[in-house]
Amino acid sequence: MLSEFRTARASLTGLVGLVPTMGYLHAGHLSLVEAARRECNHVVVSIFVNPTQFGAGEDLEAYPRDTASDLKLLEEAGVDVIWMPTPEAIYPQDYQTWVTVEQVSRPLEGRMRPGHFKGVTTIVAKLFNAVQPQRAYFGQKDAQQVAVIQRMVYDLNFPIKIVVGPIVRADDGLALSSRNAYLNDAERQAARVLHNALKSAKALIDGGERDADQVRNNMIAVLDREPLAFKQYVSCADPNSLVEIDLIENHALLSLAVQIGNTRLIDNFLMKDNKWLAGN
Ligand code: PAJ
Repeated sequence: MLSEFRTARASLTGLVGLVPTMGYLHAGHLSLVEAARRECNHVVVSIFVNPTQFGAGEDLEAYPRDTASDLKLLEEAGVDVIWMPTPEAIYPQDYQTWVTVEQVSRPLEGRMRPGHFKGVTTIVAKLFNAVQPQRAYFGQKDAQQVAVIQRMVYDLNFPIKIVVGPIVRADDGLALSSRNAYLNDAERQAARVLHNALKSAKALIDGGERDADQVRNNMIAVLDREPLAFKQYVSCADPNSLVEIDLIENHALLSLAVQIGNTRLIDNFLMKDNKWLAGN
């Protein structure tokens, strides 16, 4: 399996871009593929529902899959190589080697999902080793994942440029996610509250508010008005370290995680150099 992939990889010359995914592809994934197509000579997309980044009691078994649709979308998008390894190829029996990024993995998603980022960094390091891309594409949708991977690439000297694509949203503002498929109609309506809370906080900051507690409280107040939404965390943090800040100066990552029914949703807005990034 890995050897077949290596043969396919060996035929690619010039700049190779990798887009790692867990499949059930939507326009958010495809925006990363398009960016890779624009910037690289060849594009590799991996599809692998990585078991080690799911905690006990999480949705590994239920995670939505549609290989036929994924392959069609990727062929239409002009991808050169699609790699769909089996779990056995990635994690042979008695597997025991892990990549862990310490501090950045700890707060927020790391606190709610212990072990999650250890699984993410391990699989991404393995994908980087197998694919050896010059560039790898990740979505701002998973802001902490971006920070963790950037730290891993820096610390382990991977010669790979990490490119971050803006969040792609539905018309009503909900960030696209494979997990949105779990929502029923009422929950789908309620899910708009994530974007609404972020927009409200952005308006507050744009109006001159710099006290991070005021901003967090504002997001909490908006979330609390939605009876179907149960907040897990609401954060105003430094975008690189993910440490909560007191005062908003030039950079801030506003992020939140909310449970709606059985579905866990995350979203964020990023301000860098006093400017909001696209995808808000
Ligand atoms: P997955 O959730 O399939 O996402 C694959 C990539 O698509 C990630 O970089 C994610 O941030 C990006 N993405 C998802 N929704 C997006 C949206 N609405 N707009 C823009 N980009 C979006 O993230 C993973 O898989 C896994 O953790 C992985 C990195 C593949 C490791 O297993």
